[in-house]
Amino acid sequence: MALEVIILAAGKGTRMKSALPKVLHTLAGETLIERVVHIAQQLQPVKIHLVYGHGAELIKKVFSNSSVNLVEQAEQKGTGHAVAQALPHIDTNNQIVVLYGDVPLLTVNTLQNLISKAEHGFSLLTVNLEHPQGYGRIIRDIDGHIKAIVEHKDATEIQQHIKEVNTGVMCVKGALLAKWLPALSADNSQGEYYLTDIVAMASNENIPIASDQPKHVFEVEGINDRNQLAKLERIYQHHQAEKLMVEGVTLMDPARFDLRGKLSTGSDVSIDINVIIEGHVTLGNGVSIGPNCVIKNATIGDNVHIYANSLIEDSVIEAECTVGPFARLRPKTHLKPGAKVGNFVEVKKSTIGVGSKVNHLSYIGDTTIGSHANIGAGTITCNYDGVNKFQTEIADGAFIGSNSSLIAPVKIGKNATVGAGSAINKDVPDGMLSVGRGKQVNIDTWQRPVKKP
Ligand code: UD1
Ligand code: CA
Repeated sequence: MALEVIILAAGKGTRMKSALPKVLHTLAGETLIERVVHIAQQLQPVKIHLVYGHGAELIKKVFSNSSVNLVEQAEQKGTGHAVAQALPHIDTNNQIVVLYGDVPLLTVNTLQNLISKAEHGFSLLTVNLEHPQGYGRIIRDIDGHIKAIVEHKDATEIQQHIKEVNTGVMCVKGALLAKWLPALSADNSQGEYYLTDIVAMASNENIPIASDQPKHVFEVEGINDRNQLAKLERIYQHHQAEKLMVEGVTLMDPARFDLRGKLSTGSDVSIDINVIIEGHVTLGNGVSIGPNCVIKNATIGDNVHIYANSLIEDSVIEAECTVGPFARLRPKTHLKPGAKVGNFVEVKKSTIGVGSKVNHLSYIGDTTIGSHANIGAGTITCNYDGVNKFQTEIADGAFIGSNSSLIAPVKIGKNATVGAGSAINKDVPDGMLSVGRGKQVNIDTWQRPVKKP
């Protein structure tokens, strides 16, 4: 049966104490609401409806280029009222799954199990909690059939002892929602239209209500404040770290590893403490990453060693390279096999050829370096005249003496040599030595000044 998903996200999230609506806070680098939409997408629904209210403009911006159907709930009158706003947009022949924008760690597997149990039209995800305060309680009859959900604030003292609670996540036939939602009343302690009241309606009509439980309680935990956000972030990071270790990655300390995106790894990868991986990163076999590195959107080949405190973004590093310590590879850096980028070197939009070395204190921008070139300490490519950017080309086997300025556009020929301390603004032909600096003079009559009395 075809599926549609309704995600409730109209609440403000007062306890976040933030100018941002709650669902735009991030967990592992992704907004809560985008996380929930991505979970929903994996169910392959025909449509996803997002009920928004607070922070409307910001939320619309996030989904401006997406197929998610945005439904406004101008006034928050309860979860039943929120789902009712999406009702005119659904096909009542479809199965409807209700999710929440502030519950970001549900697994697709849990949802698929729940959906498969909704054959009679209604299934609920419940969980047993040692401390069920605040949650709606699941009321079952003597045979274990679900009869109703009673909100904490409406529950009798005896009902408050029930430990099985409503997660809010459910799967209901569209036609049943269409029948029940208009019949909800706000006659309760909070004066809200409770979505949960449809459970009693189903029971009155003898529609069996199935239930299922998630594998882990954290899957159904919602975020209301920054403590809960931090707690779920740690749980999620721990889970990811465990998965990587199962796949054969060495993490020097799984508690000091953060993955905010997707990481694919070869065998025998080792990652030291305080490494942050963002976006899409691929690490080949035998890669080692030193402590305190940040790596974002990068492809790193076999046996590459990244030493401590290096930053790498939108870069390709081929096999057998070494990078750092304290290196910065900015977007569009490409290191060919065996290249070396050492300490305090910044590289941007440049290719460094096979076996070439830029070992110390350099800026290489808008540059192509051939193979087996040696770029001396303190070499700067002057790629910017204050208005435009220009290219530098350094051919195979070139040797650039230390503290040289290569003033682009400029080409250094094959096996050419640049004398240390040169400022080069004319092309250097293949094989030649070029020295562009003041001639040294030694003055034998020189006398040091002496302090005046
Ligand atoms: C709800 C359930 C409760 C369950 C709990 C799990 C109801 C009546 N109660 O209670 O049984 O144990 O979730 O966390 O459903 N929202 C809207 N529009 C509204 C009201 C809420 O979009 O008008 C959204 C909120 O942004 C939030 C979610 O729905 O993400 C839950 O709303 P909330 O009012 O917090 O419900 P609870 O009292 O937690
Ligand atoms: Ca809540």
